[in-house]
Amino acid sequence: MAAVRLAFVAAFLGVGPATAAVTHPGNTSIMPECVPACSRLANIFGPQAYSRGDANVTLWDAKQQETHSACWIQPSSTEDVSTILGVIIDTSCRFAVKSGGHARNPDDSVSAGGVTIDMQRMRSVEVSPDQKTAKVGSGHILLSLYQGLEKYNLTTLGGRVADVGLGGYVLGGGFSHLSPKYGLAMDNVFEYEIVLPNATVAVVNPQTHPDLYFALRGGMNNFGIVTHLTMRTVRQGQMLGGVRTYTADRRDAIVEQAYALTTGWKNDTDMAFFYSYGYDQESDDFTMAVSQEYVRPVISPAPFAQLNQIPFEHSTLRLDRISQFSIETASATPPGGRNLFATVTYSPSAHLDRHIQDIMAQEIQSLRTARGFYPNLVIQPLYEAAIRAGKERGGNAAGINADGPLTGMYKTNVPCYLALLTVRWENTDDDNHMDAFAQKWVERATAVTKDAGKHHPWLYINYASTEQDPFLSYGEANRQRLRRIQSEVDPRGVFTSGGLCRGYFKLQ
Ligand SMILES: Cc1cc2nc3c(=O)[nH]c(=O)nc-3n(C[C@H](O)[C@H](O)[C@H](O)COP(=O)(O)OP(=O)(O)OC[C@H]3O[C@@H](n4cnc5c(N)ncnc54)[C@H](O)[C@@H]3O)c2cc1C
Ligand SMILES: *[C@@H]1O[C@H](CO)[C@@H](O)[C@H](O)[C@H]1NC(C)=O
Ligand SMILES: *[C@@H]1O[C@H](CO)[C@@H](O)[C@H](O)[C@H]1NC(C)=O
Ligand SMILES: *[C@@H]1O[C@H](CO)[C@@H](O)[C@H](O)[C@H]1NC(C)=O
Ligand SMILES: *[C@@H]1O[C@H](CO)[C@@H](O)[C@H](O)[C@H]1NC(C)=O
Ligand SMILES: *[C@@H]1O[C@H](CO)[C@@H](O)[C@H](O)[C@H]1NC(C)=O
Repeated sequence: MAAVRLAFVAAFLGVGPATAAVTHPGNTSIMPECVPACSRLANIFGPQAYSRGDANVTLWDAKQQETHSACWIQPSSTEDVSTILGVIIDTSCRFAVKSGGHARNPDDSVSAGGVTIDMQRMRSVEVSPDQKTAKVGSGHILLSLYQGLEKYNLTTLGGRVADVGLGGYVLGGGFSHLSPKYGLAMDNVFEYEIVLPNATVAVVNPQTHPDLYFALRGGMNNFGIVTHLTMRTVRQGQMLGGVRTYTADRRDAIVEQAYALTTGWKNDTDMAFFYSYGYDQESDDFTMAVSQEYVRPVISPAPFAQLNQIPFEHSTLRLDRISQFSIETASATPPGGRNLFATVTYSPSAHLDRHIQDIMAQEIQSLRTARGFYPNLVIQPLYEAAIRAGKERGGNAAGINADGPLTGMYKTNVPCYLALLTVRWENTDDDNHMDAFAQKWVERATAVTKDAGKHHPWLYINYASTEQDPFLSYGEANRQRLRRIQSEVDPRGVFTSGGLCRGYFKLQ
């Protein structure tokens, strides 16, 4: 790092070869175009908002923690973001946008050798006079958003983990404890403030920019930098939350209960749950956990009555504020380690749950002793309300609406299951093995869901692996529409795979 810094400073002061990339074996090189970009940003913003080191940021994954940017910049307003993007385009410097930093690969939200735009100062909360919506900054983590709204006894469609960023979460979809009732977080965004790829500012709602409004619901970081969102707020006091852990011999009972909750209790939209099957290296055995959510202050609601009869190991079930539950969940998923996600979607089936869990168990055999190895398979329903809410908003890019790939599900009134494989490990040397394991799991899990006639093509972008193409899963009509919108909004391709912002999932 020292050598990189020194060379950078030399170029920065104009005493070195500003055109040669500064490379280091195994380390990111600073892009030559970014030397003048950083210099200009430093002049405009000063040390309060500009830094060359990796200043005061939380990044979840070690692969991103190890990624070095030419410089970091923390905007405080939409105008700042517009100025920054203007400089970046002018200099043709590569960049990445960071909200909560929970993406898992270099360049996703930390630019490798370019400029990282860190949104963490943009955490405003403005509740509307009727308290039905709030305009919030895209740099919130979910905890700061929850805390800002709880002052008013309000909440919104946030996720489960305190330090996940609103930005990535809501631009990809957003599964919330409130999703059974209101749908995904993205379908509860009524307006976006965005800095477009030409650095101008637009206010995007169904009236002003219907196409872009469609695209931003599932289109991720392919259309510009979102600075503020106007979201649905919901009156909320204490709710039931927490998690119970179980030994693996309870698996059959849990899997059956998950099915019963998903199909038999789907009309009780106060209820949400997810459950997991993970490998514990220490005991060399599998363990299970079920998270219960009920958005009323009821400690033992009817849907969970049977589940609560299954003997458990530990329990944190209680009535509390959602902010407090998000802190608990964050402590169970701390930053660090190398991580990957992969996903498969299918119609609810207890048999298939067991089958894809068994596939995971089989495929980890040769990896069991890898340092820090922790594979975990999380299963949760995609609720009908998500499909309905998407439709009410005129359809979203992710295709969760009557015209998208979930059509059949909607018509038969059956929700579907999302399986998320999360894998954590420590050593760089294991990276390729872990990728291969995840790919194998996806391949086999997809095959068994297809064989059972229950496969669903939709992939949640925030759970997909680098080998999966969520945009393909949105349905061909949606993908083509997205491509058309992108070519209109971003004719120079700033946010495309060949442009300046290349990380995460790119529309092909
Ligand atoms: C521990 C953990 C728990 C999770 N829990 C949930 C959950 O309960 N529900 C759920 O649906 N998902 C969940 N996820 C998935 C999560 O939603 C995604 O990983 C999400 O992309 C993270 O967003 P972030 O802002 O923290 O990440 P970042 O890495 O900061 O951003 C992710 C991507 O979004 C882009 N982006 C972020 N902000 C903006 C912006 N303002 N404008 C343009 N592009 C932007 C970034 O450039 C990057 O490409 C979880 C993930 C983890 C690791
Ligand atoms: C290069 O990156 C590695 C991590 O990948 C880090 O440990 C090392 O300090 C870096 N070296 C330099 C010279 O920056
Ligand atoms: C680091 O960032 C957090 C979140 O924005 C902020 O609360 C904290 O004050 C910052 N710390 C420093 C030392 O700047
Ligand atoms: C929030 O709810 C609590 C408990 O019902 C109440 O005491 C408090 O006054 C409410 N606060 C606001 C701002 O409405
Ligand atoms: C759920 O609601 C639908 C539509 O209102 C109704 O047709 C169905 O019978 C209900 N199912 C259950 C299990 O209550
Ligand atoms: C910027 O892009 C938008 C969307 O394509 C367009 O409407 C606007 O005219 C452009 N502005 C400038 C100054 O190029």
